[in-house]
Amino acid sequence: MRESKAKPSGSATLTYDNKKYEFPVFSGTEGPNVVDIRKLYGDADIFTYDPGFTSTASCESDITFIDGDKGILLYRGYSIDQLAAHSNFLEVCYLLLHGELPNKKEAAAFDHSITMHTMVHDQMSTFYRGFRRDAHPMAIMCGVVGALSAFYHDSTDINDPRQREVASHRLIAKMPTIAAMAYKYAVGQPFVYPLNNLGYTENFMRMTFSVPAEEYKVNPVLAKALDTIFILHADHEQNASTSTVRLAGSSGANPFACIAAGIACLWGPAHGGANEAALKMLEEIGTVDRIPEYIKKAKDKNDNFRLSGFGHRVYKNYDPRAKAMQAQTHAVLNEVGHGDDPILKVAMELERIALSDEYFIEKKLYPNIDFYSGITLKALGFPTSMFTALFALARTVGWIAQWKEMIEDPHQKIGRPRQLYTGAAQRDYVPLTKR
Ligand code: CMC
Repeated sequence: MRESKAKPSGSATLTYDNKKYEFPVFSGTEGPNVVDIRKLYGDADIFTYDPGFTSTASCESDITFIDGDKGILLYRGYSIDQLAAHSNFLEVCYLLLHGELPNKKEAAAFDHSITMHTMVHDQMSTFYRGFRRDAHPMAIMCGVVGALSAFYHDSTDINDPRQREVASHRLIAKMPTIAAMAYKYAVGQPFVYPLNNLGYTENFMRMTFSVPAEEYKVNPVLAKALDTIFILHADHEQNASTSTVRLAGSSGANPFACIAAGIACLWGPAHGGANEAALKMLEEIGTVDRIPEYIKKAKDKNDNFRLSGFGHRVYKNYDPRAKAMQAQTHAVLNEVGHGDDPILKVAMELERIALSDEYFIEKKLYPNIDFYSGITLKALGFPTSMFTALFALARTVGWIAQWKEMIEDPHQKIGRPRQLYTGAAQRDYVPLTKR
């Protein structure tokens, strides 16, 4: 069980209806203090109102920290820049799940367990055939990941720590297989089984891009870039999809169902769907001379258009993931010979113009990770429709680490927000004949 590590650091007073109410204030390791208002409704008979949770801490967590003003992202205290430069995705998975970097023995045991869970139940291949060939990979991922609970009953008891661990390993291990199968199904090629002597990311590339008719060699530069992309997407504090996973899990739902809920939330264009939207936007702009037209649209209050890949709820500075991503974008484009890709030129110029435009400066709208990830994934050979599926693959470890932390928190309660009701007051039913 997880013990609370929050430290009392004073109190806050609320005056309401001529009465004073005291609430404890707590400090964490970093970030703003929180006012503990759990007794507010019971004591003062009012709710707080915070649509979109812009000022609400929904939980206590030890996993990920973001300082949006300084552009800092830490996984278990380690900066994303250091992890992207020196670690690998599976080590980051271990770190997120267990809180510490593994020693050699722990790393070997973890890698072995993940490798041994990469295959999916053979009957799952028939499950795919129920989808139309043109189904979006995220639609397939939602369905197939949710269906894992029907295939792996022996790891759905959330009260058993061993079953929680097996479910976690299964999800991390099977996600690449499930995503690669979604791709293969869409392009009409045979599914490729995982190969245990390959690393996590190499295996995923082989399952995605190889065909039985030809030998496939993994390009180490591209594999390193994709592995870094996975590290950059692994967790991001209490974002919309993670909060969805926690909320779904708070009712006691099984882990596979919770992760399917996270995938559904991630799909939206304001969240994980932005990488797909950003690349489509860059392709639509097409040439550098058309950028001013799109900047104008983005600034127009009467136009719904937004620059995809710009802005973030938390980062009011350069997204630190975007910086690490930019380096990988160049590495990949140089390797595959697309260094002078016109889309990259549009991206660089759009970034330059937006960063010097008063509207974007004033609103602190910087490029986020999705601005660069789309270009990189395209150069790696992935179709646009797979971009968000890759995000889901990488974020699964974050979701599962947060889900596990919630289950192990003795203060955990079912998530149940309240509301400011503005509908009709109580009234009497009028029979149809009298309406
Ligand atoms: N282009 C133009 N204007 C923008 C943009 C944009 N991309 N983003 C925000 N604004 C404006 C917005 O119109 C608003 O202006 P005003 O104050 O005059 O009404 C102001 O900036 C604040 O925007 P907001 O919508 O209140 O901010 P938010 O924190 O609710 O939204 C966001 C954050 C990421 C949803 C938003 O910036 C956005 O829609 N960006 C484009 C989509 C995108 O790139 N999403 C990926 C996020 S990073 C990956 C992830 O974590 O999933």
